[in-house]
Amino acid sequence: MDFSPFVICAPGVRPPKPRGMDAPEGLGDRMRTAAFAEFQAVAAFRWAAERFRDAPPALREAWSAQVGEEARHFGMIRRRMEELGFGLADRPVSTALWDSLQECLTAEEFCIRIASAAPAPLAVYDVGDDDLALSRSIRAEIEKAYGNEFTRYLQSLKKIRRDAMMMIHNKRERTSFLKCIASEEMVHKVRSKGFKEMRRTAEYLLKKAVGS
Ligand SMILES: [Fe+2]
Repeated sequence: MDFSPFVICAPGVRPPKPRGMDAPEGLGDRMRTAAFAEFQAVAAFRWAAERFRDAPPALREAWSAQVGEEARHFGMIRRRMEELGFGLADRPVSTALWDSLQECLTAEEFCIRIASAAPAPLAVYDVGDDDLALSRSIRAEIEKAYGNEFTRYLQSLKKIRRDAMMMIHNKRERTSFLKCIASEEMVHKVRSKGFKEMRRTAEYLLKKAVGS
């Protein structure tokens, strides 16, 4: 996979922490992370539409349609970064999202995984009402393909994320909670025990995070 013009961290190496928001570079670091998330989304939807033949044609079409939308998001952030003098290649970024999507074996697993991935702007800026990495049209196709239990899972994911933003005040703990509900283990739990179990686990983790 060609990630240029981004500079990629070596395998197993964490990306450098974003610098403080008191300097302009801090904003640049956050914009770079968000830009790279959009870049990975372009690649991921294009790849999924080609790779997962087990997905219904309408879902694959929705994925393909999303490629242009993600490219537009990437272009917007890239242009703004240029205006502000921030380079995409100034600091290395992590391919963790892309790598985790590559592990998916089925279309359904890809849907779970990409839905659970916290969009970068959410982790970075404490905002975002539509905080799921899936467009409405993709969600509609997912519901048709995998039933409304999946939709309920997406809705609860949204609520759990919103609660986490309000209830976990420590930024580091919040980021680690968001990562945890998108972890490989959680995806396996959904696959083996169903969406209800995922909801219960996420709620339990939130309670634990708030209590700590
Ligand atoms: Fe996007």
